[in-house]
Amino acid sequence: MTSLLIRNASIARPDGSTFEGDLLCADGRIARIARRLGAEADETIDAAGKLLLPGVIDAQVHFREPGREYKEDLASGARAAVKGGVTGFLDMPNTDPPTVSQAALDDKLGRAAEKCVANYGFFIGATPDNLDEINRAAPACGIKVFMGASTGSLLVDRPEDLERIFANGTRLIAVHAEDEARIRARAGEFAGRTDPATHSLVRDNESARLATARALALAQKYRRRLHVLHLSTREEVELLRRDKPAWVTAEATPNHLFLDVRDYASKGTLVQMNPPLRAPEDSAALWRGLRDGTIDFIATDHAPHTLEEKHRGYPQAPSGMPGVETSLPLMLTAYKDGRCTLAEIQKWMCWGPAQAYRIPNKGKIVEGWDADLTLVDMDSTRPVRDEDMLTKVRWSPFSGRELVGWPIYTIVGGAIAYDKGRIREGVRGKALQFQI
Ligand code: DOR
Repeated sequence: MTSLLIRNASIARPDGSTFEGDLLCADGRIARIARRLGAEADETIDAAGKLLLPGVIDAQVHFREPGREYKEDLASGARAAVKGGVTGFLDMPNTDPPTVSQAALDDKLGRAAEKCVANYGFFIGATPDNLDEINRAAPACGIKVFMGASTGSLLVDRPEDLERIFANGTRLIAVHAEDEARIRARAGEFAGRTDPATHSLVRDNESARLATARALALAQKYRRRLHVLHLSTREEVELLRRDKPAWVTAEATPNHLFLDVRDYASKGTLVQMNPPLRAPEDSAALWRGLRDGTIDFIATDHAPHTLEEKHRGYPQAPSGMPGVETSLPLMLTAYKDGRCTLAEIQKWMCWGPAQAYRIPNKGKIVEGWDADLTLVDMDSTRPVRDEDMLTKVRWSPFSGRELVGWPIYTIVGGAIAYDKGRIREGVRGKALQFQI
């Protein structure tokens, strides 16, 4: 049994209040929290009054292994995660080969067990003809359906295929909700334009609204668990606010919360993603949706592409941007600026995703729960710098922003994985469990 004692921390409670004291991790769990613990431990950290938070669960990342390891792999993605205070991640199936079978899922789980310093889980990808696989493959956090094509080959856009997937099975379906037919038609209309802002015109608000409405109708018809990934428009927020059954959840990304179409002017194709950046009014609607509970949590959609690829110009540049190591400092800076509370951050980034994906014992600092934690520095401000990034592609769309809340230590299963700027390479995360 290994143990870790964290002394003198400002420990975040789920309700957003803090408790000044010590926390003992033993055997992967939070063993005790008290004003002052006398216990001896294998290792002791002096937190010096810094803020101790539950580890973040980033429920949407693209770590590119297998197939595109030159952009990211499970080891580098997990290292970037713990640097950002993320102790668990859910990885998307649009790898090469795509994760559309038990064999492909087993392959990823095996690779992750060997090299990830964070906890991990994987989606199984839907195709028009793998219904048995998507319902049986285990352990999987859910079924990913690309209703609109994005990076990779996965696509389910025919209504009859979608209907069959929603009608058969019980596990959560997570949708990339953009309407493929509308996008194709609009791509034709805008052909020849090379201004990156065109991306937001081709894949317009209505493309997202149409697909989200279709998924929602199917979830209602079949009472099927649905998670709407990366909500981006005010129209989708309104749709869900009007009518969101208890078995439906939704997420927003920091990209859509902190960037908008005005950023094309300075960042060009670097900020090209799917669904695209929207108007400032859409970002404001996402913030309101988070605050009133219409949107359940935040995930990054960490989707790294190399600078060389991103600089190919529009429309050749691939869509997506890295984000796993900047989401918590971005949100903690928003907290410091009065835009949200510490309770909301824990709900949106820690226990919200755990609850949606039914991951037990994670996301709150409670005795007996898993010792996945991050100690952050709210007192000093540091800029995001490309050269500091641990993602293989080594750039960030937030480069230059001054942020607080950078992790000092990140603890995975009671072991220090991120230690003041260094990764402890020997630490291994575990496969996340998903209750049925
Ligand atoms: O912009 C995106 N990039 N959106 C997605 O849905 C996929 C992602 C990627 O894998 O590059």
